Amino acid sequence: MPDWNESSQRMGVRIGVLGCGGWGKNIIRTLQRVHSVAAIADPNAEARALAGEIAPDATVYEDPNDVINDPTIDGVMIATPAETHFELAQKAILAGKEVFVEKPLTIDPDESQRLADLAHAHERVLMVGHLLEYHPAILKLRELIESGELGEIRYVISNRLNLGKVRTHENALWSFAPHDITVLLRLIGADPIQVVCTGGGYISPNVADVTVTQLLFSNGTRGHIFVSWLHPFKEQKLVVVGSKKMASFDDVARELVLHDQRVDWCDGSPIPVKGPGTPVEFDSTSPLDLECLHFVDAVANGSSPRTDGMDGVKVLNILHAAQRSMMLNGSPMNLELSKAQRSHREGEPIRKGELVHEA
Ligand SMILES: NC(=O)c1ccc[n+]([C@@H]2O[C@H](COP(=O)([O-])OP(=O)(O)OC[C@H]3O[C@@H](n4cnc5c(N)ncnc54)[C@H](O)[C@@H]3O)[C@@H](O)[C@H]2O)c1
Repeated sequence: MPDWNESSQRMGVRIGVLGCGGWGKNIIRTLQRVHSVAAIADPNAEARALAGEIAPDATVYEDPNDVINDPTIDGVMIATPAETHFELAQKAILAGKEVFVEKPLTIDPDESQRLADLAHAHERVLMVGHLLEYHPAILKLRELIESGELGEIRYVISNRLNLGKVRTHENALWSFAPHDITVLLRLIGADPIQVVCTGGGYISPNVADVTVTQLLFSNGTRGHIFVSWLHPFKEQKLVVVGSKKMASFDDVARELVLHDQRVDWCDGSPIPVKGPGTPVEFDSTSPLDLECLHFVDAVANGSSPRTDGMDGVKVLNILHAAQRSMMLNGSPMNLELSKAQRSHREGEPIRKGELVHEA
């Protein structure tokens, strides 16, 4: 459990929040509970009224510049629509603030890169709200993978399905998949080199309600992400298939299970070996509590956050490649590898039987 009592370093850290809409109100409520909220800005009068109810001690403004330019504010959390992120975050960094930005960091990968460079040049914290990277079950799963319990990771599947809020200005890929992409990146521990995505839009013209994204990673592992807001029931399930064991995480039932199952070769034939599933305990603290405290700590210490600007850039590049692939009806898109990643891949040939399609 995190330390709810304010550490001496956290004490006195003043955080402002921009945006008190659907998600921003959750951030304000959480931050108010685990730390405190000093100031809030939202141009919408109803949102400001709600902000005042949730955080009665905070000063509530209409103009975000009033928070950004307040010299007593140390850190700013941005929970506004994605198209406003770049301008607000840039202003906040230039005003000397430590900055948290909700996912996606920006819409355009070049703008994300510019923000990451700006934060680096001005020695400011730039944290991106990749919430699931603060999920205790995901952290536990990462621990299991790192300990070698699952063996070599073959593939990971992530389903995020619901009959949920239907958006008309962004598709299900942009709305949901950033979460799954960050989880796959963290669990697989390598970068994707190729993405294939298909989607279908049934409610608004040209807005995909359902998308299926397949990723091939530089170490040969594959990932599969299925997201939809047009589904008869809520399902948030992650499955990791390793050479020794398998694991599943159901975020709706909050169950993490280690399955003692695999396929062995016996006399030249692949034989499924079935075994019991063992529940794995994990800390019950909410990911949003942990994410907010992580930002307050980063502001207090000037430390680099777990999900920084470069993580935001990486996710943006993958989203753009997936979007391009979807627009070309599932054409494979190759992702650029950095020099370091290329040399890693050159030293590690693709597994036997791997299918690689050139874009
Ligand atoms: N981490 C998660 O699980 C999660 C979940 C939902 C949304 N989000 C992200 O949170 C962000 C906000 O999404 P939402 O669903 O709350 O949107 P929303 O439209 O419900 O709310 C946005 C709020 O920002 C306000 N706003 C607009 N421009 C502003 C500005 N310049 N300064 C201050 N306030 C401004 C609006 O008036 C509104 O109240 C998005 O980036 C979204 O992707 C994250």
